[in-house]
Amino acid sequence: MTTPSHPAITRPPEQHRITRGAMSLRPTTSADLDFVVAVERHPDNAAHVEQWTSDWHRQALERPSTRHWIIEHTGHAVGYALLEGADDPNASLLLRRIAIVSKGHGHGRAAVLLVARYCFEELGFHRLWLTVAPGNRRALNLYRRLGFVEEGIARESVRKGDTFVSMHVFSMLDREYRASPQL
Ligand SMILES: CC(C)(COP(=O)(O)OP(=O)(O)OC[C@H]1O[C@@H](n2cnc3c(N)ncnc32)[C@H](O)[C@@H]1OP(=O)(O)O)[C@@H](O)C(=O)NCCC(=O)NCCS
Repeated sequence: MTTPSHPAITRPPEQHRITRGAMSLRPTTSADLDFVVAVERHPDNAAHVEQWTSDWHRQALERPSTRHWIIEHTGHAVGYALLEGADDPNASLLLRRIAIVSKGHGHGRAAVLLVARYCFEELGFHRLWLTVAPGNRRALNLYRRLGFVEEGIARESVRKGDTFVSMHVFSMLDREYRASPQL
């Protein structure tokens, strides 16, 4: 058994606002859940992200290893992001879900940059990873453009109705983050 080079985080740090220019991530509250569910169910997003009930999101707000954030642009909510594994002893954070209301304005890109900053600079983690459904061209472009490395395919890893969908797995390591001029 190997010893992790990063210390296990038993109590995640207090959640707070993370800002860069006009973009912010702030902790989701129960008052935001109607917005979160509406964004998730929007026809432009529903095909690409898991569909949760408001109650599942509420439970996620309470999980210490989860970060549930509202993405804001100039103080207005433009989407949400959900991260898991903030206490992972292997220092690997999962960007479980991100959805933006008004696409193609750079909000998704800016939000992922803030997530990366949180992962590598605030948590001091080693790896940020995520999966993308096949055919989600916008998301595939986004992660490739930001320098995420495509690791391969997680075969039939997500249930969709009666079938299981294979997902593209992407990751970024701390040294890649530090070497990237755009991050
Ligand atoms: C994927 C998503 C988060 C990206 O956010 P966004 O605000 O629309 O994207 P941005 O405007 O920041 O653009 C980021 C990159 O996406 C790609 N992109 C943007 N619009 C695109 C389009 N119409 N077609 C293909 N790629 C596109 C580009 O590579 C762009 O980078 P560039 O401007 O440097 O070329 C957002 O579109 C979304 O919520 N999609 C539905 C839910 C989803 O797929 N979530 C991700 C699951 S992993």
